[in-house]
Amino acid sequence: MSNESLLQLDTVSSGYGKKTIIREVSLDVPAGKIVTLLGANGVGKTTTLRTITGQIAPFAGRLLFQGRDISGLKPHSIAGLGVGYSPEGRRIFGNLTAYENLLVVANRIKSKKIFRENLQWVYTLFPRLGERSHQLSDTMSGGEQQMLAIGRALVSKPMLLLLDEPSLGLAPMVVKQIAETLVEINQAGVSILLVEQNAKMALQISHYAYVMDNGQVIQHGSCEELLQDKSIADIYLGIR
Ligand SMILES: Nc1ncnc2c1ncn2[C@@H]1O[C@H](COP(=O)(O)OP(=O)(O)OP(=O)(O)O)[C@@H](O)[C@H]1O
Ligand SMILES: [Mg+2]
Repeated sequence: MSNESLLQLDTVSSGYGKKTIIREVSLDVPAGKIVTLLGANGVGKTTTLRTITGQIAPFAGRLLFQGRDISGLKPHSIAGLGVGYSPEGRRIFGNLTAYENLLVVANRIKSKKIFRENLQWVYTLFPRLGERSHQLSDTMSGGEQQMLAIGRALVSKPMLLLLDEPSLGLAPMVVKQIAETLVEINQAGVSILLVEQNAKMALQISHYAYVMDNGQVIQHGSCEELLQDKSIADIYLGIR
């Protein structure tokens, strides 16, 4: 892609213990874009995101954020550079209120004033979170909990938002609402790397897509190109 790169993975391999899970993965998130990473169960999508966030260190290859080598940095350092992460399964604290879940990341934010401004922005994006800010998050609906997980990743106003399967287990109406908000977040200047099994939704809102199989990127292109590639759409994306 010709646009300026925000995040670049250059032949990155990683895994758990000694076991390699992702092999020589190269991908690019240009500044200002939504890029999606698609693939079936267990192909290595979450492992790719864990490598980007620093939860696991790459075995080989390089990760660049704004041209700076971040390979091997710890998660808090990578988050501090402007990378927000909404993990698979949401991982919110059920025994805390929505507001308290958002407050957990406040110590990463320079001042109380900026935190309050960012919080207002999150509540504007997800009005439900504002309405339910003092409700225990365990008692919120699945959709609201997903909004909270995204909101928590956004409250530090990251440059890049990493999302791991935000549509999982949600009703189509809620998926649509979240997809629309992702577009709004992107229009506010946040670049997005979206991991999804819901290829249809992801391809509708993304600018560019990568397809993984068995730990490797097997295809990439604009969303239109991938949709026209019948073998990819059939076999890997479950569309048509
Ligand atoms: N903590 C771990 N220790 C060892 N192996 C793991 C660990 N986490 C995942 N794996 C293995 O790595 C492979 C890729 O898993 P990963 O979670 O990255 O896939 P995924 O594409 O995100 O799948 P899904 O769509 O089901 O979320 C799988 O074979 C999985 O069993
Ligand atoms: Mg996963």
